[in-house]
Amino acid sequence: MKRGTRERVEWLRAEIRRHERLYYVLAAPEIGDQEYDALERELRELELAHPELVTADSPTQRVGGEPSTGFEAFTHKVAMLSLDNTYNEDELREFQSRVFRLVGERPLRYTAELKIDGLSISLHYERGRLVRGVTRGDGVRGDDVTPNVRTIRSVPLVLQGEAPDELEVRGEVYLPRSRFEAINREREAADEEPFANPRNAAAGTMKTLDAKVVAQRGLDLFLYQIAHQGGAAPRGQWQALERMRGWGLRTNPTSRLCDGLDAVLAFCAEWQVKRDSLEYDIDGVVVKVDDAALQAELGFTSKSPRWAIAYKYPARQAATVVESIVVQVGRTGRLTPVANLRPVALAGSTVARATLHNEEELARKDVRVGDTVLIEKGGDVIPKVVRVVPEKRPRGAAAWQAPTTCPVCGTPAVKPEGEVDRRCPNPSCPAQVEERLLHFARRDAMDIEGLGESLVAQLAGGGLVRDVSDLYRLTAAQLAELERFGEKSAANLVAQVEASKGRGMRRLLFGLGIRFVGERAAMLLSRHFRSFDALSRASVEEIDDLYEIGPAVAQSVHDWLAQEPNRALLARLEQVGVSTVEGEGQGPASAAFQGQQFVLTGTLAGLTRDQARAEIERRGGRVTSSVSKKTSVVVVGAEPGSKADKAAELKLKVVDEAGFLALLAEADRS
Ligand code: IVH
Repeated sequence: MKRGTRERVEWLRAEIRRHERLYYVLAAPEIGDQEYDALERELRELELAHPELVTADSPTQRVGGEPSTGFEAFTHKVAMLSLDNTYNEDELREFQSRVFRLVGERPLRYTAELKIDGLSISLHYERGRLVRGVTRGDGVRGDDVTPNVRTIRSVPLVLQGEAPDELEVRGEVYLPRSRFEAINREREAADEEPFANPRNAAAGTMKTLDAKVVAQRGLDLFLYQIAHQGGAAPRGQWQALERMRGWGLRTNPTSRLCDGLDAVLAFCAEWQVKRDSLEYDIDGVVVKVDDAALQAELGFTSKSPRWAIAYKYPARQAATVVESIVVQVGRTGRLTPVANLRPVALAGSTVARATLHNEEELARKDVRVGDTVLIEKGGDVIPKVVRVVPEKRPRGAAAWQAPTTCPVCGTPAVKPEGEVDRRCPNPSCPAQVEERLLHFARRDAMDIEGLGESLVAQLAGGGLVRDVSDLYRLTAAQLAELERFGEKSAANLVAQVEASKGRGMRRLLFGLGIRFVGERAAMLLSRHFRSFDALSRASVEEIDDLYEIGPAVAQSVHDWLAQEPNRALLARLEQVGVSTVEGEGQGPASAAFQGQQFVLTGTLAGLTRDQARAEIERRGGRVTSSVSKKTSVVVVGAEPGSKADKAAELKLKVVDEAGFLALLAEADRS
């Protein structure tokens, strides 16, 4: 090891921790993303070269290795209670009266905090290091979800300053709205059921066994309680918040210390109006008697503290009438019942449709045409039907019958064992073909401008296009014959279709609409495999091994590529000239390294690892992470790892940096 390496590693860690805190906890970054990434990259590379220097609390170790097989139960040292609710000013004043009866009437100070709508979590630190994260569970026992909690970037793995030997803090994990929306867009594009609201998404994410998936979701949290700490306990809630902030723990910046209940009510009124401007959902305000001595005097009931109460905001619901229930056919044949509603204003927009999810859900709620229903914006995004108002049901309203056939092609619908969705099993169903074509043409997929709904309906309906490869055989003359389609638009579309041939693997992979393969998965897969060819040859395990690719995606991609009709489709696409490789539009610049596998180890002086990889790939070669008999060349930089030894053992071709540069030059001459 070079002298000073250990010191450099330690310095990098401290620096990264400081910037993590500035960025994720204090929202006041001092450096840009690129500079931050450079620090992280340098640390990763040093740790890769010196595995003996890796520590569990290194900022690079947020995402661990293997997915867990299940969570262990953990019994809370102090039960995680819930709160009593109040819904108006009178009820809040009653809470204060109860407090006065117990401790005598006196001026009171309260902390008012937004009630974050997520899931509660307990974090345990020992000697300043994060050792455990536990969900609330039933309040007594929760799940040990430490690997997942570690992925949350605002959770310090090491506390700042003078931290007590033992500390347990509690708070609320949530999914920021923007992340929620992005995840749902991805899920819909990958034909997965979207999450109903950010809280469900956060809870579902916390239950995920693969921390790689959790890391990608982008959870965040606010801490609001010191449940236990070694040394002197804080004087009150406000001081607890200040202490947590001092240790680098993220607390909510809107919290307010209020003199008397009127100030609390003002806070509640203020945030009821401003709640939409937040990046997270809240369902009310938590009001806490600030003074710790008074808290101790007040104590707890079996369910909740007597010194705190929730002031809940009313749910934003509206009543309207179901005008019809229609069934939509999705890209993969999924049949989804949808309610068409008499338009109604709700939380800032007009709602005219609401999903009924699936027929089981619909039957459970017994929604009928003509019913008056209460609707709510699930997490303020997707409107959903909460319940029917039974008194308002018109006479003779009939229970809804799930269709036994596809409403579009008439094929008998199927409902596989154990699945909630009924499906149209006919892959040639015009509705499915249309949805697939629309997905293929999306801007973030193959980006074929002008291929919109009505044109797709004409093309699929008229039998001109049966799958996406047929698009590439369309002629301007054929198109010009279509209704409402002039010669100019026909020529434009043909040009657009032609241009899409070179979009590359990532967009094609996403555009094919393989189940679970959203934009991000498509990006990760194509960045690694670089061609459909290579991806087709990979095993499920090899795909699953990729950072951030989960088992469901891996299985789905593998199965899709193994199916004969899909292979035939890919062959037809290649035949018409659609690029199935990733790269500057048309794949590698030369084929000099075609079929060769490279392994990089150690640090190169003249170029970064990413640059070296790009140089190899530009010449048609592949970079893999481990040395095997299949490896063609091992490039060894300064301070190589065990890979260099393995290469020697297998008697592989080994080159140093100069040798590597010579290989590149030679390839360009050939
Ligand atoms: S204090 C003894 N403060 O609301 C319980 N809770 O309905 C002390 N919550 O389980 C809880 N924001 O999950 C507290 N600022 C906040 C909160 C908060 C959200 C959640 C928490 C709790 C639930 C009670």
